[in-house]
Amino acid sequence: MRPAGKSLKGKALLAKIRADFIGIATPYVNVTGHSIPRIYLDSTASSLMLRPAASITEKFMAHYSNTHSKLHHSAHISTSAYQWAHERILSFLGADPEIYTCFFTGSGTTGGINRMARVFRDLHPKKGTAIISIMEHHSNDLPHRKHMRKVIHVPVEGLNENKMCISLPKLEAALKAGQGQINYVSITAVSNVTGIINPIHEIARLTHKYGALIMIDGAQSAAHLPTRLFYADDPESSIDAFVFSGHKTYTPGSPGVVIARQDHLIKIEPEEVGGGMVERVLEDRYQVKDKFPDREEAGTPNIPGAIALATTIEILDRIGMETLAEEEDIVLTWALTALGKMEKVTVYGGADTASCPRAASISFNIQGIDHGLVAAILNDYFNIAVRNQCFCAHPYVKEMMSDDLEQVFGIINFGDMSPEFMRKAGMVRASFGLYSTLGDVEALLAALEDIIAHADQYADHYEINSENDYIHKTYRPRLAEVFDIKRAVDDYLSL
Ligand code: ALA
Repeated sequence: MRPAGKSLKGKALLAKIRADFIGIATPYVNVTGHSIPRIYLDSTASSLMLRPAASITEKFMAHYSNTHSKLHHSAHISTSAYQWAHERILSFLGADPEIYTCFFTGSGTTGGINRMARVFRDLHPKKGTAIISIMEHHSNDLPHRKHMRKVIHVPVEGLNENKMCISLPKLEAALKAGQGQINYVSITAVSNVTGIINPIHEIARLTHKYGALIMIDGAQSAAHLPTRLFYADDPESSIDAFVFSGHKTYTPGSPGVVIARQDHLIKIEPEEVGGGMVERVLEDRYQVKDKFPDREEAGTPNIPGAIALATTIEILDRIGMETLAEEEDIVLTWALTALGKMEKVTVYGGADTASCPRAASISFNIQGIDHGLVAAILNDYFNIAVRNQCFCAHPYVKEMMSDDLEQVFGIINFGDMSPEFMRKAGMVRASFGLYSTLGDVEALLAALEDIIAHADQYADHYEINSENDYIHKTYRPRLAEVFDIKRAVDDYLSL
């Protein structure tokens, strides 16, 4: 158990940094002409930037140089800070540095999952099948379809109780039926739609029992939950590869990250080749380094991004991920309970967090009002930023919306791309970060009450544009006056 002193210190630190995010309350002028601070409830898409990560990285930039250079002072400082970034992330995720390596790749989770799908495919070429779940974001679905011969989607359980968690018995059945063919299982730790948390270590144990590897999409979990990838006393529950995004971990501009077992990677040539990962290159051959993570990072990496991300992670770790998860849970549970009690609001996924734990995201609909209209009104009148549509998780959203859509359209065809269908086939998502407060939730609830009470009046003010989006008939926010990149340059140059 965490000593009380440490947790108290973590809470004090959390209180200090909670408001220290860039853009936490950016004002915009709303429909009524008032400038009001935004309430950012779109952290699952991308979280806001932790200010100290930006300012510490700016300090580092005085010493920036390529880590492939060797002997000048800046190269020493850059190389040592970049090495620290890798070590910091391994320790944050409870990954033994003797067993795992950490490398940066791509701008989010997508690059890392594509990479590891190819690694696992090449590691065991005779095993051509990957198992994923119906809950997955497209970044943990399409790479497997592209790189593997066959992909099995394990369904969710509890359709009737609206639980929508992954079905472990069905996962085990798929593993058993395909034994010998299943190369790996790749599952999200937390759904980007419902926020439902999957039992990754239980899934790892099952997967290993049937001789397959386990990859975890940590895009939605790394910033919100304590994570441990390796258990020396329970290796079967350990994770073979874990992938997450810096931009969802309070560090926009930072790279995607892979943490993977070295013993898997070392067996095959790295998927990507180029400068920095070779010992020697001759005209007719080259020799790849054995050293991790260098051999996995061809080319000049995003050094400032990696350093910014590791700085964020250092701060999160000093607060303590248990403390963070507890605090975030207070906001999420309150929102979930209150939304669940609102008439005309359908919340997707199990509401009982004891049997169906959740983190960060809640997706819902207001009956009779299209998701796009709700999101537009929240933005235009209340300056509340939410995301709507299908959140790049079409199969899961489809599964949860079948009944609603059947009521409107009768027999439904999910291939239907008609504007009418698309305006109904989607949800509104409110998602939270460590800076989200009960006040933010209150503002959301009050706005939704108002939208429900005055649905027709609001709808009268909107029309549908050529992109099938709801757009206010008269409100045209002057966003170019708020920020215009060229003007920012002009302003700088005229100083
Ligand atoms: N994966 C991101 C989301 O869920 C983009 O919104």
